Amino acid sequence: MDHGARIPSGLTLDAFNIQQFRESSEATLARLEKHLADASIRGLELTEPAQLTRAARSLMTTEREHVAGYDEAKLNAIIDLYLKTGIQVHSPGYMGRQFSGTFPLAGVVDFVSSLVSQPSSFYEAAQLPNVVEKIMADEFNRFIGWPAGSFAMVTTSGGSLANLTAILAARNDRVPGSWSEGGAADHGRGRPALAVGADVHYSVSRTAGVMGIGEAQLVRLPLNRRHQIDVDRVVPELEAAQRRGLRVFCLVASAGTTSVSAFDPLRELAEITRERGIWLHVDGAHGASLLVSDELRWKLDGIDGADSLTWDAHKMMFTPAPCTMLFYRDKDKSRSPFHQWASYVFDEEPDVYTALDSGGKTLECTKRPMIMPLWVLWAMYGRALFAEKIEYLCRLTRDVHRILLAEPDFETTHWPEANILCFRYRPGALSDSEAHRLQIAIRDRVKARGTFFISKVDIAGPPPCAWCS
Ligand SMILES: Cc1ncc(COP(=O)(O)O)c(C=O)c1O
Repeated sequence: MDHGARIPSGLTLDAFNIQQFRESSEATLARLEKHLADASIRGLELTEPAQLTRAARSLMTTEREHVAGYDEAKLNAIIDLYLKTGIQVHSPGYMGRQFSGTFPLAGVVDFVSSLVSQPSSFYEAAQLPNVVEKIMADEFNRFIGWPAGSFAMVTTSGGSLANLTAILAARNDRVPGSWSEGGAADHGRGRPALAVGADVHYSVSRTAGVMGIGEAQLVRLPLNRRHQIDVDRVVPELEAAQRRGLRVFCLVASAGTTSVSAFDPLRELAEITRERGIWLHVDGAHGASLLVSDELRWKLDGIDGADSLTWDAHKMMFTPAPCTMLFYRDKDKSRSPFHQWASYVFDEEPDVYTALDSGGKTLECTKRPMIMPLWVLWAMYGRALFAEKIEYLCRLTRDVHRILLAEPDFETTHWPEANILCFRYRPGALSDSEAHRLQIAIRDRVKARGTFFISKVDIAGPPPCAWCS
């Protein structure tokens, strides 16, 4: 009887064939080059899901017993289908979601990351990505302004995860016993609660459920006419929450809300939270990138007063998603969200290598070395690449706003603080609900035509435009 390990068939080895790797990469590269250069590609062509499922199934091998052979035509068909059915982020017709077209070089670096597989939570698995995270933290802190060596940054797979991680850190720091005792802890000072701007991203309000805080313990702070947290109403709201038996341990401000990109007054909020021992988390998933621009940085004035900051590079820094940086003002707090011990990855006595591990600061064990594309762009082109593109996009948005203000049949709901602008077409005397239905119908038609891709959002209340000229 042969109990020895079977040598894989030639075809299994074929999947590691370097020559074939070169050929398939070159064929794919040629297709990508054509795709990116094709200015006729616009908007989004939605394929009916059942039809796309059939197309995808038709490209799968029916061979079940043996390793199927490499089929170049099949690969090309798969790549073509992938490119054709994607949201066309490089198209001039794409004006929709917040994730962006990437600088092509970032894609090249991401390709390398996929091949060398360096999961970046541990230094020994990903040496350069871990060093680069530190370098980029220092680079970006130049715009935040914390003392050198006092802060920390960890990458997470997306802004939603960064928000959850920061709020966990806040709770562990401000509500002692919550990690070990959970909801059973008798904190003695009221039910732990989270204060958020009324227009906060859903990933923040979702944390209340995920962390067992409970949605009922969300204190929604009212907004002013500029869609920012109304700073004059924060203290009364916090005091009212306290009277209801709530203990607000964290206030989440936004630096660029999702719907209108409003920037909350960070300096004032930092003062209020500091006085009350409340952790200030800033969700800058969309707008923190404005920090790299000398022209626009002022929108985040007071950011150095935050305890933590979420910053998505896959939105306004044009890198592949996900690439999120979560910053902590106090580096010691960055290790507080998680308290597990696992001898297979953590060392009792950290050395010069394991000191760079980020595994203790994040929910993720295996994660992409997502900092690499961002770093390579930064290393090759420098800050100005990002600043110029961000400034251009914001200027373009202001131009559109100006054009729409001059059009009697269009309404805008806000002054564009960044690259987001909400507007609607409202000819004649339509009621609010008629106007609402009209926007949906127009958007569906635009989408169906495939020339442009625009997104939609419901904003409560009438458009307050008197102040915005
Ligand atoms: C303000 C804000 N916060 C958080 C998120 C979530 O980020 P991600 O999509 O990277 O999880 C978004 C995404 O749209 C956002 O706009």
